[in-house]
Amino acid sequence: MKDFITIEGCEGVGKSTQIDILKQYCADNGIPVLFTREPGGSRVAEKIRDIILDADNVEICDMCEAFLYASSRVQHLEEIIIPALNSGKKVICDRFVDSSYAYQGIARGLGLDRVKRLNQLAIGEYMPQYTIFLDLSPRKAFDRKGGADIHDRLETQDLRFHERVYEGYQLLIANEPDRFIIIDASGTIEQVHEQIIAQCKDRGIL
Ligand SMILES: Nc1ncnc2c1ncn2[C@@H]1O[C@H](COP(=O)(O)OP(=O)(O)O)[C@@H](O)[C@H]1O
Ligand SMILES: [Mg+2]
Repeated sequence: MKDFITIEGCEGVGKSTQIDILKQYCADNGIPVLFTREPGGSRVAEKIRDIILDADNVEICDMCEAFLYASSRVQHLEEIIIPALNSGKKVICDRFVDSSYAYQGIARGLGLDRVKRLNQLAIGEYMPQYTIFLDLSPRKAFDRKGGADIHDRLETQDLRFHERVYEGYQLLIANEPDRFIIIDASGTIEQVHEQIIAQCKDRGIL
């Protein structure tokens, strides 16, 4: 969908940091953009997410979780994203459907095809026009955070999971190379920002 842009990448790669700077950039340049992230402040979408995140709900199976994420997503879409697009704004969303593909479809092993099909029902024609992928390996993102102790078994498991997520994103990019805008996220905050602006300008997004 035209003017609908998402930002994706592994944990700690700088998505929120870059969104904050982009917000300022758009304000300074008078570009009307709605910045959002799931569940986007939608009351119902938030309630659905509470069910997923409630530690008491141990019996939620992976597929149920995938449907709940898709339900929360479509509510956010209907209440927040679609009205903004209809009012002529661009929308930049911190994580969207590709996160479900990478985390649940691939890293958790539900299967990309199943997670795609159920999300297709939820989002319909509202696939992002472009997806900015902040490319930084989980190992480097962990190191930047002050370094997970990779000798600790739990941290190592965690790292392996995030590596599967990263591989998942690589598969998504290989499948749809024209939708993804790959940004080398290993530089300074300013360098990453400059790349995002240059790539977005090239495509007429900003
Ligand atoms: N380019 C960068 N270089 C160094 N540190 C960064 C950079 N971008 C973000 N950070 C820091 O890394 C941490 C995670 O960034 P954040 O934007 O919250 O990541 P995400 O939203 O992708 O999980 C924050 O402490 C942030 O200040
Ligand atoms: Mg973030």
